Amino acid sequence: MADTPHNFGRRIPWPGGAAQAVGTPIQPSVVYRSSDPDALDDRYEGRAPGYSYAREGHPNADVLARAIDAMEGAEGGIVTGSGMAAITAVLLGFLRPGDHVVGGDQLYGRSLRLMREDLPRLGIATTLADPTDTAAVAAALRPETRLLLVEVVSNPTLRVADMDGLLQLCRERGVRVAVDNTFTTPRAYRPMDHGADIVIHSVTKLLAGHSDATLGYVAARDPELMAAITDFAVTAGLTASPFDCWLAERGLHSFALRYDRAEANAAALADHLAALPGVRRVLYPLRPDHPDHNRAVHLLGTRGGTMVSFEIADDRGAANALTRAAGGIPFAPTLGDIGTTLSHPASSSHRGMTDAARRALGVGDGFFRVSVGIEEIGLLTEEFTEAVRVSREVPPGDATKI
Ligand SMILES: Cc1ncc(COP(=O)(O)O)c(C=O)c1O
Repeated sequence: MADTPHNFGRRIPWPGGAAQAVGTPIQPSVVYRSSDPDALDDRYEGRAPGYSYAREGHPNADVLARAIDAMEGAEGGIVTGSGMAAITAVLLGFLRPGDHVVGGDQLYGRSLRLMREDLPRLGIATTLADPTDTAAVAAALRPETRLLLVEVVSNPTLRVADMDGLLQLCRERGVRVAVDNTFTTPRAYRPMDHGADIVIHSVTKLLAGHSDATLGYVAARDPELMAAITDFAVTAGLTASPFDCWLAERGLHSFALRYDRAEANAAALADHLAALPGVRRVLYPLRPDHPDHNRAVHLLGTRGGTMVSFEIADDRGAANALTRAAGGIPFAPTLGDIGTTLSHPASSSHRGMTDAARRALGVGDGFFRVSVGIEEIGLLTEEFTEAVRVSREVPPGDATKI
């Protein structure tokens, strides 16, 4: 008689008790079992809930997506493996060769690259236009324009798009509007409440908030469009890992608190920087000297956001000195972390531009962007005061001295 086979490698059924846990469990399984082919049909055809293969969906992605849906006033959004994956899923899930798309001329750098290089390579024409000027966007529209991709507040000059004008224009011209809401977040602006068709996030940033998960999110109002975006994301493997989703969902619980504190810090830091000798210009949407101040107040109310940009002498030596002297504040090309980070667009996000094009935007070597965190404001004002002071001691043109 043969030995009884050992149960090597066969999975033990999930105990189920974890469903009662207050903390969200993590389900890392790549694959899910079904009782029979009919049950699998029911699942694929939407008659029964459940999962089959993690690239197509898993509980941690759904928990996170439902939480962001609720924040954005959206339904049926999906989580993707990065913010760029969400943008790619929208563009390639929706557009076809021969279509035309208009993008804001100050979109995030990789979005600009998609617009300038990748879409044209695939037969999709693109035009960049200034989203603070609805007439300029109107002039860019063509009969075959199907989509406008825009950010509400631009990086790093913090210009505020004419969202009311753009949404009305696109409604009249039958063009869908996709809003990358990464900077503004639903705390300040909910695109779907204003009639946008698609909302996109780099969840990596403020929503997750701890610089430990790279994720995106996208929701579309039209279920057919959402299905096309979802299908492309699943096919191209743009979907997200359970652990990242778990981390981000955990971060989301403190999002509103983090945002409010960081925003109050940003407003205070902007005023502090503006009064420092050596600071030539401060950009913060709610300051009366911001070029889009009135629009910012109209669109965002008291929500000036968590980003501040400022300018010192246009000199690489002074910029090096400032970043070194602000040693407690990581000099890092990101935003939305719980702690303050400092970035220098001329050497990071805008390094691919010609000097002349960068300077036309007002982004010289003395231009910095601060993603403000939740520290005690006194700590931040002290560190920036010292960093700006040290930067002023560098003789002009001396890139080596601190
Ligand atoms: C406004 C904006 N959109 C999209 C992205 C891309 O997000 P991810 O890095 O998660 O792909 C970024 C990244 O910095 C961003 O700032």
